[in-house]
Amino acid sequence: MKLFVDTGDTEEVRRASDWGVLDGVTTNPSLIAKSGKGFRETVLQICELVPGGDISAEVVATDYDTMLKEAIEIASWHPQIVVKVPLIEPGVQLVRTLSDRGIRTNVTLVFSVSQALLAAKAGATYISNFVGRVDDISDDGMDAVAATVDMVHQYGFDSQVLVASVRHPLHVVQSVACGAHVATMPLKIMEMLFKHPLTDIGLQRFLDDWNKAGLKIFG
Ligand code: G3P
Repeated sequence: MKLFVDTGDTEEVRRASDWGVLDGVTTNPSLIAKSGKGFRETVLQICELVPGGDISAEVVATDYDTMLKEAIEIASWHPQIVVKVPLIEPGVQLVRTLSDRGIRTNVTLVFSVSQALLAAKAGATYISNFVGRVDDISDDGMDAVAATVDMVHQYGFDSQVLVASVRHPLHVVQSVACGAHVATMPLKIMEMLFKHPLTDIGLQRFLDDWNKAGLKIFG
């Protein structure tokens, strides 16, 4: 499963990239606005920080013609860019156009299998299925992820299911259990993936034993 970091903060991208396990970055208009920097410069810096990674950058228009212009502009910035498109009627139409032109897409704000079906049929590279925002309204966001993964396999769609709106490590574990292709998460959640109390206790014991014995690696 691919791991993406969900941020518009280039320092966070740098930190996640240093671990050597990062496959890409997702941004959205809110995250770019929060970064306090320009859209193009931020996205290009992120592309440089994650060589070969897939970097999602989102259109902001909601009519087909303007969305198409924005998508072509954004895609022209860097070959690593994946154009993020909301799951609305002109968005699905746009994904079909971009797919036919060989431009990769990430269909966002997907909450249901019926929406995911439209994205897959339009040729989406990634289908961003949001889970946290569904959990927030007392439903189980992972249900649609599991059903969408099944749908993609059953019908042989090329789209990859990307679990978004990840709020805690359990969402990542559940994404693995569902066979999702990608999970994107804030840096703080990625940092939590490292944590296990038995790791800390075990490491401390190893180091205490080593030091008590006065052992050395060098010299
Ligand atoms: O980038 C899309 C998604 O991951 C946003 O998550 O936490 O704002 O629901 P959240």
